[in-house]
Formats: sequence, C-alpha cells, structure tokens
Amino acid sequence: MIELNDLEREILKALTKGKLPEGNKDAIVNALRRLESLGLVSLKRESIISYKLTDLGKKYLSYLPEEKVYSLIKKGITIEELFNKDIGLSKEEINASIGILSKQGLIERKGKELIAKPGDLEEKRKALNDIAITGLPNKFLDEFLKRGFVYQEKEDKYSAELTSKGKEYVNSKEFNLKSVDKLNREIIENYENYKFRKYDLSSIPPIYYGGPSSLSEFIEEIKKIMVSMGFQEMKSNYAEEVFWNFDVMMFRQNHPDRDVQDTIYLEGKGNVDFSLLNKVKQTYINGIKGGYGYGKEFDEEESKRIILRGHTTATTFRYLYYVISKNPNLNYRFFSVDKVFRNETVDVTHLKEFYQIEGVVYEDNLTLRSLMGYIKTFYELIGIDKVRFKPTYNPYTEPSLEIQGYSSALQRWIEIGNSGMFRPETLYPLGIKKNVAAWGLALERAFMLKYDIEDIRVINGSEGDLNVIRHPKYYKIWS
Ligand code: PHE
Repeated sequence: MIELNDLEREILKALTKGKLPEGNKDAIVNALRRLESLGLVSLKRESIISYKLTDLGKKYLSYLPEEKVYSLIKKGITIEELFNKDIGLSKEEINASIGILSKQGLIERKGKELIAKPGDLEEKRKALNDIAITGLPNKFLDEFLKRGFVYQEKEDKYSAELTSKGKEYVNSKEFNLKSVDKLNREIIENYENYKFRKYDLSSIPPIYYGGPSSLSEFIEEIKKIMVSMGFQEMKSNYAEEVFWNFDVMMFRQNHPDRDVQDTIYLEGKGNVDFSLLNKVKQTYINGIKGGYGYGKEFDEEESKRIILRGHTTATTFRYLYYVISKNPNLNYRFFSVDKVFRNETVDVTHLKEFYQIEGVVYEDNLTLRSLMGYIKTFYELIGIDKVRFKPTYNPYTEPSLEIQGYSSALQRWIEIGNSGMFRPETLYPLGIKKNVAAWGLALERAFMLKYDIEDIRVINGSEGDLNVIRHPKYYKIWS
C-alpha cells in the first residue's frame, strides 16, 4: 500500500493530463521528488536562462536616450542647446547617446554642429520590449547587458511524467478508493471500497485517567500496614468537644498547654457524658492517689465547646472509654488515619489541615520499649528507616517521645510524630488500669521522607504539584 498525501495525489492526477498543478513551487518540487523515489514519476530538471529588465531598462522602455537625442538633432538642435536646455536627460546620458549615435553612423560632427543622417532607432527599442515580454535573447542583447538594461536569470524548471508504474498505479483500485475521515454505516459495511485516513497518534499529549491521588494511595497503603500489624480502624468525626480534645487528657484549662495547638473553634455546644465529665473534673482538681491535682476551678461550659480537632488522640480517648473500658480484660490495638486541623503558618513542613496516623495499644506487660518497637516496625514497613526518638513533654503522656525522621531532601532531621504512655490521671476517670501506649504520626511528613520531597505543600491542596499528585507509576498511559 502506497501512502500519499493530498498534494502527491493531486500531482499524479494532473500528470495524467500532462500538467502540473498550480501552487507553492517548493511544495510541488518536494512532492515530485517523493513520487520519483517511489518510482511513480520520472523527473527532469532543466536550467533555463532568461533575461529580465533592470530598473534602468524599464525606464527606457518608452524611449531610449539616444532616440531622444537623435530626434532633437534631426530637428537641428546645437550642441550647446543640447547640454543647456532641459531635455529630461542627464549629461552622462547625453554624452553616451552622442557616442552611440556617432558609432552607428547616425550623426556626424562638423565643428560645433551635429548633423543627423537618415536612420531609425525603433528596432532597438522594440528589441528591449521583446526581452521584457519573452525573456529571450536577440541581437541587441550584448549591448543591453553592457549598458545595464538587462540581466540574466537562471531558473530550474522541472518537467515530470508518469512512469509506467505510475500510470498503472493511477489506474489501480487502490489509487481510486475514496478516502474518508468520517465513518457511517454505509462506509463500514463496504469498507473495502474506501481508504481510511490514518490518525496521527504522535502528537497526542499524555493522557491521565481519573484515579486516587498519590496521597490517597499512600493512605491506603498505611491502613493495610496497620491492619497487617494487628490493628483495627477507629472511626471518628472532624468536630469534637473541647472535652475530648483537651480536658480528658488533662490539658490545663486557661493554661499555655492549650496553645500547643492553635485551635479552630466552631459555633455551638456539644454534649458530654455527665458522669464521665464529673470524674474528669474531680481528677483535674484533686489528682489521683499519690499525686496532686491542678487544684483549680474546672469550667464545664468550656468543656462543651466544639472545635475542629487538633489531634486524633481525641478519638483514641473515645475508644478508651466507649470500647476498651467496657471490656478491660481483652487486649486492643486500634489505629486511625484521619484529618486534623491546626491554625499553623503553612511552610515547607507545615500544613493547616493534615493527616495523622494514630495508634493505641492496650495489652499486658506493655513498656516504652514495646511502643518504640511498634513505631520502628511501622516506619520500616512503609520504607522509612532513618528514625530516632527524643524525650519530650506532653500533658497526657509520661514518658513522652518525639519521633524524628531524616529528610535527605532537606538534609536535616524533622519531627514526624509524637508518642508516649498515657498518664494514670488520664486513664483513671475512664476506669482503665493497664498501661496504654499511643502515638500520633504526621502522614504527609512520612510521604515527604518516602518520596524525597522537600516541600510538604506540593503533596496536596492549592499548591499541589500535579506531578506529585498523579503518581506516574499509576496514572500515565501515554507520554
Ligand atoms: N497527639 C499528639 C500530637 O498530635 C501525638 C500523640 C498521640 C502523642 C498519642 C502521645 C500519645 O502530636
């Protein structure tokens, strides 16, 4: 099958009538060369020389300067008059004309007088005119070239003929198939009679199909890992009572502890289990056996205010109370991967809205070592192994450990989570007596470490980078 473009087809058709189509000469020559290489056309190139008038030549088309001078001399003009009167010619032109006329024997000089002999210059002027029209040489050519009236032009002319293969092809069924670019039923049913235009797939931009973002994929991966480590998922809501976010964890009311997370308050009040609220209040004021309480007033109305939760540990406490404390003899491992909200200034490592991976373990013989083991194992399973612990302070855990991970993109250690063993004061009002280990890990920061990203803002949201959001591994079909 020979693939021809429209111009090449047009040329073949024109050549059956011995012609070439009109149009852009370079395009036609290129098309002819291609047809020649396909053996359909024989191409001949001829260099053709023709003559064209210069601007000077064009100026003299209506009269030659010597013609004018000759006719004035015939009328008896003197040399002096010739040079001093305005006759529309320059001195050089007049001098040259006199020279030419004398040479051709059309004038004679007698002293200061010029005498015209019979003759005619019309033939010469006509010859110039002929060149303008035909481009062909004639007997005055040399003179015209010398005097700069005319110049030579070389041009490549192509003549083409169909070869016998070409003639055969033009009459073939293939050449005469109708070419179509839109389908209908008739065409599909009689497809042998048509030729189909090919689609150019080389210029199609990369196509992405819809799918989960790379962050969603990461979240799913993490959930699977938590499940594989024996954890069950906790369900929760974005909005929480201050009680579950702060009071139950013994954050002091009106104390800088509450500013650790700049909190987003919502309108309205929630409901808190009255007897639990009361137990927390008593512990808050008086402490537990062997310790001291804060000894201060406890504002129950403050407890009922509603906020966008600043950590998913609020959910952990709901599960400690509503699930674990109801069957305290069992062992439990819970996790959640969910959103939290903080009124942070956004920068390379901070977002206002981000995901936390919360984990809580309730089992016999639990130690701080177990907690560190769970966390290390978790990071290893997601492919992050440069992790270290550092003692820290939380109002609700003792001891408390900050978790740091090494960012090779930022070339420094960054905080990636926080953890600890819950203080007895937080567990006592819930009726829990065993040790509880828990942690909250920053999910987008883990993403940064895993994918070597140096700015957390590219992962998600308004400053997200599409190359990061569409995971090339999953979404690119063509590129
Ligand atoms: N809630 C803590 C935070 O948001 C993390 C944490 C969870 C710490 C559980 C200790 C125990 O940083």
